Amino acid sequence: MASETSEITSLHPDIEEVVFTEDQIKEIVAKMGRQITADYQGKCPLVVCVLKGASMFMSDLIRHIKLPMEIDFMVVSSYGNQTTSSGTVQILKDLESDISGRDIIIVEDILDTGITLSYLIDNFQTRKPASVQVAAFLVKDVTAPRTAAIEPAYEGAHVDDRFIVGYGLDYAERFRNLPYIGVLKPEVYTA
Ligand code: IMP
Ligand code: MG
Repeated sequence: MASETSEITSLHPDIEEVVFTEDQIKEIVAKMGRQITADYQGKCPLVVCVLKGASMFMSDLIRHIKLPMEIDFMVVSSYGNQTTSSGTVQILKDLESDISGRDIIIVEDILDTGITLSYLIDNFQTRKPASVQVAAFLVKDVTAPRTAAIEPAYEGAHVDDRFIVGYGLDYAERFRNLPYIGVLKPEVYTA
């Protein structure tokens, strides 16, 4: 039993540095939930999770939104098994809800090039929602101008332009289950 516990709490061997601990993540998410709760008083937002990366963030965030609300899910893919964006977005699973007249909050794990979110926002706008806002857990501080200019109404934290994993974020579908966010050792993806 003791060895099992230490295995869970120790750093994964493929991670070289922790960027956000579990406790830091909890604090950030609770704050975002409070902001959304304050801003959407009297409304019933439809909170849209962009799968798969935002799944953990979404499930934590909605517990801090103290309002009537609904959820829906999209699956989009832009990265494949690479660590840089392929530049094209594919909808692999669309919404089930009719979003016309609804207040939409798109929940995304990380804003990088902005390609995914700008595609989703444009796509949603054609369905005539009342409003569309973005809640991004992380925003990457990219040095080059973002391909698509996106201003999330809710931003959890900024991160350096490095490839990170954990708390839903993957590399080739792995590492999503890490309860913290960390930087992958370069040899993991250059091997
Ligand atoms: P964008 O379209 O370039 O803004 O990328 C957004 C998507 O790429 C996110 O939803 C993530 O799934 C993925 N992504 C971007 N940066 C990272 C990263 O550092 N680690 C893991 N996934 C990332
Ligand atoms: Mg991904």
